[in-house]
Amino acid sequence: MCLFKETLWKNALMDMLICTFCLSDIHKLRGISPEWQRNFPSVVSGGPLYLFGNLSVTSLSSQEMESKNLPIYHQKSKLVQAVRENSFLIVSGETGSGKTTQLPQYLYEAGFCKDGNIGITQPRRVAAITVAQRVAQEMQCSLGKEVGYQVRFDDFTSPSTVVKYMTDGCLLREVLADPGLSAYGVIILDEVHERSLNTDILLGLLKKVFSNPSTATKGRSFPLKVVVMSATLETDKLSVFFNDCPVFTIPGRVFPVTCKFGTAIGPKDLESTGYVKEVVKVALNVHTTEMAGDILVFLTGQVEIERACDLLFEKAECIDYRYDVYDQTVEGLLILPLYGSMPTDQQKQIFQPPPPGIRKCVVATNIAATSLTINGIKYIVDSGFVKQLNHNSRVGLDVLEVVPISKSEARQRAGRAGRTSAGKCFRIYTAEFWEKCMPEYTVPEIQRTSLTAVILTLKCLGIHDVIRFPYLACPEERFILEALKQLYQFDAIDRRGRVTKLGELMVEFPLHPGLTRALLKAASLGCQDLLLPVAAMLSVENIYIRPGEPEKQKEADTRHKALAAKTGSMNDFALLLTVFQSCKSSDRPSAWCKENWIHWRALKSAFSVETQLREILLRLQQKRDFPVETFDGNKSELFRQCLCTGYFTNVARRSVGKVFCTMDGHGSMVHIHPSSSLFDQEAELNWVIFHDVMVTSRVYIRTVCPIRYEWVKDLLPKLHEVDVYELSSVARQEVTDDEMKKWETKEAAKRQQGSIHKLEK
Ligand code: CDP
Ligand code: MG
Repeated sequence: MCLFKETLWKNALMDMLICTFCLSDIHKLRGISPEWQRNFPSVVSGGPLYLFGNLSVTSLSSQEMESKNLPIYHQKSKLVQAVRENSFLIVSGETGSGKTTQLPQYLYEAGFCKDGNIGITQPRRVAAITVAQRVAQEMQCSLGKEVGYQVRFDDFTSPSTVVKYMTDGCLLREVLADPGLSAYGVIILDEVHERSLNTDILLGLLKKVFSNPSTATKGRSFPLKVVVMSATLETDKLSVFFNDCPVFTIPGRVFPVTCKFGTAIGPKDLESTGYVKEVVKVALNVHTTEMAGDILVFLTGQVEIERACDLLFEKAECIDYRYDVYDQTVEGLLILPLYGSMPTDQQKQIFQPPPPGIRKCVVATNIAATSLTINGIKYIVDSGFVKQLNHNSRVGLDVLEVVPISKSEARQRAGRAGRTSAGKCFRIYTAEFWEKCMPEYTVPEIQRTSLTAVILTLKCLGIHDVIRFPYLACPEERFILEALKQLYQFDAIDRRGRVTKLGELMVEFPLHPGLTRALLKAASLGCQDLLLPVAAMLSVENIYIRPGEPEKQKEADTRHKALAAKTGSMNDFALLLTVFQSCKSSDRPSAWCKENWIHWRALKSAFSVETQLREILLRLQQKRDFPVETFDGNKSELFRQCLCTGYFTNVARRSVGKVFCTMDGHGSMVHIHPSSSLFDQEAELNWVIFHDVMVTSRVYIRTVCPIRYEWVKDLLPKLHEVDVYELSSVARQEVTDDEMKKWETKEAAKRQQGSIHKLEK
């Protein structure tokens, strides 16, 4: 038996050489291409498995065949006609019917690129990248030429790009620079049913600007075509939103999927992490007892997925394919992870068909529910959970939480098994869990996360009435007010709701406003070199490797502690800076990472992100009125004082023992997360700032830095000073002089009574 675990890597290579050179009858072998092994050395397991040649690259002609078999193909001419005749069009069709990959090509062939580009938005970066790769292949051009993509911190386009896939966030940034979207002839908003925050805002913007004849051609020489694409949900609502525009439905067949509930996860298991082990058990059971056909497992995030893949690999090693497997044509299992921050070349592999006799098992996040369609899936294993960004009112911050999926989401997941034939879906949760714990629909992101960045964008676009903006689903007014309050606290808007000079600079950075604020403070003091790497490191996936085995875990912890000691002061932000600088100045950065248990891939991304942030900053610094300040404090404290400017909203003070209390008015009790270099040093701390929080049974703060009260003393009152009435006026319009006077009088009276803090400028 040959297994491709990293430890057996050498043996595997030897086997490959042996079979390539010594065995003539290769038809008897089952193969995994070297490309597969390079990317997934640790996730291939199976029976007597050998390696040879490049078996698995789909040929172009078969792709052509595939695209002609897609349901959308039969609608080609009608669809092109409908786009030609309407300035707004909704296109709906089952996932996998070919909307994302084919429609832009049809429009390109029909000459829609003559006046301007075709831009297609995706809520997820992985989808934007992989789809662009696929379409470039189908159009037989190299990626970045006619077909390109742009996602945050990664631009793969050139002047010859005419079909551009991008994240919705990128298009929102383009609107800021060019509200008339003059570079585009067609904008396709895709995956609208996902209801991502940025897509919802774009829907409102396109409606506001382009459905109004007086503004529709502003800054343009020809009208814009807007196509909104969605799975079959909510199309009526969308049509009404766009003044009853036509809906084009792509007919498509779906095959029945039988769904079975499990026994493992019930209403009492909401907080348990047992779902990882359970999906592995169920997936293995499918592998050994069901007929051939690929498996798609839905899990929550990178860590859980990697853990599940390891477990699956371990268990699959013990299968004896002569006796243990029901379908004797199944002779091996290929285990592939799929999550957002995976490197692009690995993502591409997910779509390749497995070698003959090998069953593919993709362990994915929700990304495989609608954004990406993997052919050949016959079985679904549904964990019932998803990782979701929610505004947590307990801590007053956005928190990434594991929550039960909605029933509509569960139906969508199951549907992935019935695309080309009947399928089966194994839910690991009970029917009672379905009834009691799963909501009917997923709440749109706009109604559950912080709106700070988008409200600033709207204000920068001159949209002052952010309450009566045409939202497809209105966010709660308190979320809008919360966002305005934060913007005011960061000095991005003034008391009249006008965007300040600082706000205009802040909107240019694709970062959290607090982090941007700290970065701009550093830049004004001339020490951006301290903050740029930190901002970059906080924008990429987790950089620290934490192995599962206890022995290795100890070794990794020791290495990380040594790095923290090198930093001098115990401070997680400074540690990020040390890691960044040490790796960058090392002769062999990848070896340095390996030695120090740091993800090289994450560091590489951080290097590139840092360069891009630096470019944005340089561009802004060339403007005449970029702020310049002097620092007259202690130089060694400069770094932490800059951080305070952006993180004063995340200040905590030690209350008793290891418990800290946040100072944002919520007064939440929080603990330092064990991953922090300050964990177990609590007794020596009084005041700290933190980057984010994680909620389990406790609320943990992560990426922590000790500070002095004096540094935030003047900023903290700002957290409590803003009046709700004042904010709700700011939310509707720019405030007039008269109103401003009224407030000032009211405030002066209050101040005399001592009920509000004086704002220190
Ligand atoms: O957008 P929609 O869900 O309607 O379908 P699509 O994403 O355009 O997918 C059409 C077909 O292209 C499916 O069979 C996918 O499996 C395939 N595809 C692929 O093989 N590789 C990609 N990177 C993207 C799509
Ligand atoms: Mg699609």
